[in-house]
Parts: sequence; C-alpha cells; structure tokens
Amino acid sequence: MDKRLETNRINWNEKTSVHAASNFYDVAGFKAGQITLKDIEREEVGPVSGKTLLHLQCHFGLDTMSWARLGARATGVDFSDEAIALARALNAEVGTNARFIHSNVYDLTIVLDEEFDIVFTSYGVLVWLPDLDRWADVVCRCLKPGGTFYIVEFHPFLTTLEPAASGGARPFYSYFCDELFFAGGEPSYAGDAPIASPNYEWQHSLGEIVTALAGAGLRIEFLHEFPFCHFQALPNMVQGKDGWWRFPENNDSFPQMFSIRALKPRA
Ligand SMILES: C[S@@+](CC[C@H](N)C(=O)[O-])C[C@H]1O[C@@H](n2cnc3c(N)ncnc32)[C@H](O)[C@@H]1O
Repeated sequence: MDKRLETNRINWNEKTSVHAASNFYDVAGFKAGQITLKDIEREEVGPVSGKTLLHLQCHFGLDTMSWARLGARATGVDFSDEAIALARALNAEVGTNARFIHSNVYDLTIVLDEEFDIVFTSYGVLVWLPDLDRWADVVCRCLKPGGTFYIVEFHPFLTTLEPAASGGARPFYSYFCDELFFAGGEPSYAGDAPIASPNYEWQHSLGEIVTALAGAGLRIEFLHEFPFCHFQALPNMVQGKDGWWRFPENNDSFPQMFSIRALKPRA
C-alpha cells in the first residue's frame, strides 16, 4: 500500500474506538434501532429494499447497517481493520445481515468480483483519496450496467473557510491546494480524545470530482449543493431547529455539502 495510505490506515484504526465511544456516533441509539442515515441520502438514493448496495469507506458500519435495516443487501468496505472488526461485531450484536470487507478502496476489485445495484459513499471520504480517477474507475467497475452511484459529501469550498470577526466565515485557504500533512495530536470531529497519529489529506475541487466520475463512464443525473452542514465544521456555526449547522452571519451564502447521483449506462 502507498505509504501515505498506510499512515492514514493507522490513523483511522486509532480513531475507531474514540469515535465508537462518542456522542457524535451514538452507538447506543443505533443499537436501540435508529437509522443513522440522513434524510438527504435516504430521499436522493430512493428505495433500496431488495437491492444490492456497496458502501465505500463505511467506517464502523452504522450507515451500512442502516441501509440493511431499510431492506438493502448491504456490503461495507473500509481499510481500517479496527473499524471492520467493530462493524462485524455490531452487525452480529444487532442482527442485521450486512457484510463487511476489509480493503483499501483502490484494491477493492482485486478482492471483490461483484457488481451492485447501488454504490454509496458519504461525508468525509474524498479527502482520504489521492487519486480520484482511480477511485471513479473502482466505483464504475463495482456497478451493474444501469446501476446508481450516489455520494453526499462535504463541499470542497467548506475547507477554504475560516471564522470571520463578524461571526460568519470568509474564504481564506486555497480551493485548489493538493496534499496536506497533519502531524497529529488534535481531537478529530468525533470525541474529545486527541488522535496522536499523523495523517495525509487531499483537497479535490468540485470540477475534479465530477470530471473523474464522467471520465470513468458514469452519466451524472444531478449535482446538488447545500448551504448547511451536518456537523459543526467551524466553531462559530450554530445548529438550527432543522438539525443542520449554519453560520450566524452570511447564512446560506456558502456551499457546505454536495450530492451527486450518477448512472452507469447499460451499453
Ligand atoms: C470520515 S470516515 C467516513 C465516515 C462515514 N460517512 C461515517 O459517518 O461513518 C472515512 C473512512 O474512510 C476510510 N478510508 C480512508 N481511506 C481509505 C481507503 N484508501 N480505502 C478504504 N477506506 C478508507 C477510513 O478508514 C474511514 O473509516
């Protein structure tokens, strides 16, 4: 494996137990029967009952098992062995029939020779991938002809923002930066414990994402952009009654999440 991805795998192994104990992931609520998927992806993916669904970068599988609770024949994939072990244990404990595969996304077609009705991936996945053309190729190969790819993800513009004195936010960081290295020692988005191990991230523009999917042969059905976020990405964001996080000033001015649905053509 690429040394940078191996660094990230170790980082995600360390994060797994911290995240599983966090309020953010609310494992107790999931065990009590909650569906962890948000309305956006449930509505935009549509009915999944009886369909085969591949969930890329599934972390410890709460969303994968939620798709299974909605009737999908769900398979989750992640390169963190800790995350996959926890996903399998939770799957057995709550009695969902999801399947979990331990694999680097880039190696998936070596270990999994199957085509799915739906390939799904969400929230915080693309920054971990240095090469989107190779990723889109894996997505396309894992789809049946006529199958649907769906992603809901943080908008790359969100990472350009810094809190502004006004209480809102302003674009500050490069939209077009490439590789970033973080030395570790900071808490992640879920849980208070600092994550000691370092990690790499890659920023991808919206144009790069759409072009990778189109270049792999997928036909884009829609690209939606949302002016809110599902978590507090910057300290001055506030949560509305609808559960989404926004800036108190220049509210709704900046894209914070996007979704894409694309089809693999039949011929
Ligand atoms: C932010 S999490 C995804 C979060 C997920 N939407 C959730 O809410 O649980 C990113 C996941 O990508 C996985 N990941 C990162 N790089 C990967 C790679 N190259 N192959 C497979 N999984 C990868 C990590 O192990 C982690 O579980």
